[in-house]
Amino acid sequence: MYLAVDTAVFQKSAEIHKFLMFKNKQCLVVSMRVIYPPEDFVKKANVRDPAIYSRTAEDWKGFWEDFARELHWYEPWDVFLDESKAPYYRFFVNGKINVAYNCIDRHLEGKRTKAAVIWEGEDGAQRVLTYQDLYREVCRLSNALKELGVEKGDRVAIFMPNVPETIIAMLACARIGAVHVVVFEGFSARALAFRLKDSHANFIITCDGYYRRGEIHRLKDKVDEALKGYQGVKRVIVVKRLGIEISMLPDRDFWWDNVVKGQKARCEPEIMDANDPLFIMYTSGAIAEPKGVVHSTGGFLVHVYATTKMVLDLKDNDVFWCTAEPGWITGHSYVVYGPLSNGGTVLIYEGAPDYPHPCRVYEIIEKYGVSVFYTVPTLIRMLSACKDEEIEKYDLSSLRLLGSVGEPIEPDTWLWFYRKVGKERCPIVDTWWQTETGGHVISPLPALTPMKPGSVTKPLPGFLVDIVDDGGKPTKPFQIGNLVIKRPFPGIFLNLHADPRHYVKLYWSRYGKKVYYTGDAAYRDDDGYIWVIGRVDDVLNISGHRVSTVEVEHVIMELDEVKECAVIGIPDRVRGFAIGVFAIIRGENYEEVAKTIQEKVKESIGSFAKPSLIVFTPDLPRTEGRKVVKRALSEFMNGRDVEISTLTNPEILRKIKETIKRDSRGVYVVK
Ligand code: PRX
Repeated sequence: MYLAVDTAVFQKSAEIHKFLMFKNKQCLVVSMRVIYPPEDFVKKANVRDPAIYSRTAEDWKGFWEDFARELHWYEPWDVFLDESKAPYYRFFVNGKINVAYNCIDRHLEGKRTKAAVIWEGEDGAQRVLTYQDLYREVCRLSNALKELGVEKGDRVAIFMPNVPETIIAMLACARIGAVHVVVFEGFSARALAFRLKDSHANFIITCDGYYRRGEIHRLKDKVDEALKGYQGVKRVIVVKRLGIEISMLPDRDFWWDNVVKGQKARCEPEIMDANDPLFIMYTSGAIAEPKGVVHSTGGFLVHVYATTKMVLDLKDNDVFWCTAEPGWITGHSYVVYGPLSNGGTVLIYEGAPDYPHPCRVYEIIEKYGVSVFYTVPTLIRMLSACKDEEIEKYDLSSLRLLGSVGEPIEPDTWLWFYRKVGKERCPIVDTWWQTETGGHVISPLPALTPMKPGSVTKPLPGFLVDIVDDGGKPTKPFQIGNLVIKRPFPGIFLNLHADPRHYVKLYWSRYGKKVYYTGDAAYRDDDGYIWVIGRVDDVLNISGHRVSTVEVEHVIMELDEVKECAVIGIPDRVRGFAIGVFAIIRGENYEEVAKTIQEKVKESIGSFAKPSLIVFTPDLPRTEGRKVVKRALSEFMNGRDVEISTLTNPEILRKIKETIKRDSRGVYVVK
């Protein structure tokens, strides 16, 4: 059963949607409102011909190969796709290419003086790098890295905030064939150490510190801490961003400025095989430890190049602002490689989007004339905190396209974004994809796809996506199932670093080696539009960042005071989800243990994963076999009916319910 609701009428549709979904799983609310791409946009769009769908259905290989031919190759590929070692799919076999060449050198003729990167610091500092500047800086750093001993295939960790040097460092690695491992600067020293060790990184590029909400964050201190436990790093290169006092270890730590000084502004790019790894990106899965997702050079570049052009509609005179941090996949694909391979101008901003005032984002859009704005629903929800009359003070007329990624966007948030930010002139591309897919998979084509607020619409041309039941049978309209991809595509990751067992088990086992299992639940409406519900595994999406509940549990269990714990996602109005901990502890020192748990998670993972709710309980809901049923806690916290028939101790849930409300935050003790 489902209920059709015009979201324009029901402004509170998101709440209705959640309410009905969770009260009764059979009942879904569907937004019936269809919004057509604005005519002005359609006239000038990169992709305007609807035949792209039918043509690609007939020749999907030709579709990708045409995009690939727009790039520079030293040698063309022999075979487009080698499936012989499935699920290890290899694209553009034997093709030779360099990603940095395609992102910089290819544009020097004609775009030498065009802005490649525009940077704004939280403190209002500004820098602009033209393509010539980027070429020079990347070449100088490439030469410096070589002189310090970096060789092709070496892993170079980049632990940096959103500053131009992060992009320069990524491109320098790509230029010389080193594999970069960018780590989100919000991660703790321990989380960094894990990633260094797991990837066998022997070089790090970092900076002294950066600003966040006006406060100084001492990044190099975290690197020093991480390196106490991991001796594999030979050299640390440090950017002087703030000029603060930090410790520099002789023969290990070098200032960026000193190592690039005197280096030649020319460095021949390394000729790379299309299937050499370009980078490793750590992400959370349904297992305790983060997984190193390895991406290819050729296939990845073709995928992000093509989708930046088709979906983000990037053009020569655009100022493109993707708010992602460089340490996440969106930063790789759609801040650096997609836009720069298209010769675009990217804007990056170092600080918090609502600092020093809630309208900072609007201020930046006006200041730089941003035309394409790509962000996450969490930030859109934050943006709506600004009063209408405040927003009206800013000139947002430069905007022509908006995008969303990382988590489901509620129809009312979507409509708010469309009306108040895009002024009903800008299509919104709600793009579904993952760290593992490298680039967009499901999304509207902005000039062709009628939009439905809250739906990621349809698979892009070239992709074969389905929603299937547990037995692998395609689901009927409105039946929730598992989102799968039934055909490989160029951006698909090569492997999990040093962990092929999990590569096969987590992604290519559920429905066999030919069907990629995404871990997301979704359904289709009767127009074939896809509605993503969220993760079905133990992965939480906090502000669009993946966190494994199993990983958080392992960290908490390291505390002697904790006997047992269960970590679940609790709904959060702005961030999508926050972390809730249910713990059985030794003793009764509740306040102190709560603080210790928070500190421990912060230190081990990062502040973004700090629990918002901690419940001390004498027991946890269990099955006959004593297995903890996290789902029961999760269902209660998400307002769904709890299935208690499988529990041996349903009374504990009753006690928990008596102690806390569904929307509780803070520390509680269940007696
Ligand atoms: O659950 C889906 C959600 O984010 C997950 C992927 O997270 P990550 O690998 O960190 O990559 C984020 C940036 C691509 C997916 O499994 N997700 C991503 N995009 C959307 C989404 N959920 C709903 N709508 C989206 N547009």
